[in-house]
Amino acid sequence: MTKILVINGPNLNVLGQREPATYGYETLTDIEQHLSTIASELDTQIDFFQSNAEHLIIERLHQLFSDPVDAVIINPAAFTHTSVAIRDAILAVNVPFYEVHLSNLHKREEFRHHSFFSDIALAVICGMGSAGYEYALQDAVKRFKHQ
Ligand code: DQA
Repeated sequence: MTKILVINGPNLNVLGQREPATYGYETLTDIEQHLSTIASELDTQIDFFQSNAEHLIIERLHQLFSDPVDAVIINPAAFTHTSVAIRDAILAVNVPFYEVHLSNLHKREEFRHHSFFSDIALAVICGMGSAGYEYALQDAVKRFKHQ
């Protein structure tokens, strides 16, 4: 069975309440429930992790050494623009990953235009709201289907 891990970074636990004009009214629970439904239809195992703490995201990635997945879908949120440490953790565990952002980073402040992840990501989806996670999941299932 294909195994996917979805990681969400800081402030994404308050989706729905947080700047809804930018991030929408769906909560993270709504998004995760929707992804779970799709995953079960596609016969895929999906796990979720959210943290506001950089080191906890790094430690969750390190768990992939002993409990690997086929791909990670990550929205590193503000850590996108700051975290060499999370980038290094992804490289350490050598997992293919999709970088997803709800908003279109390139339409926003200049400091959001640079990502520490995009050059090593399998794909980057931004500006498609929560559908971005869904598209990443569908692609991962196709790409990493076990024979
Ligand atoms: C975000 C964009 C980031 O710049 C921001 O810090 C976030 C969310 C997005 O999903 O659009 O927290 O990753």
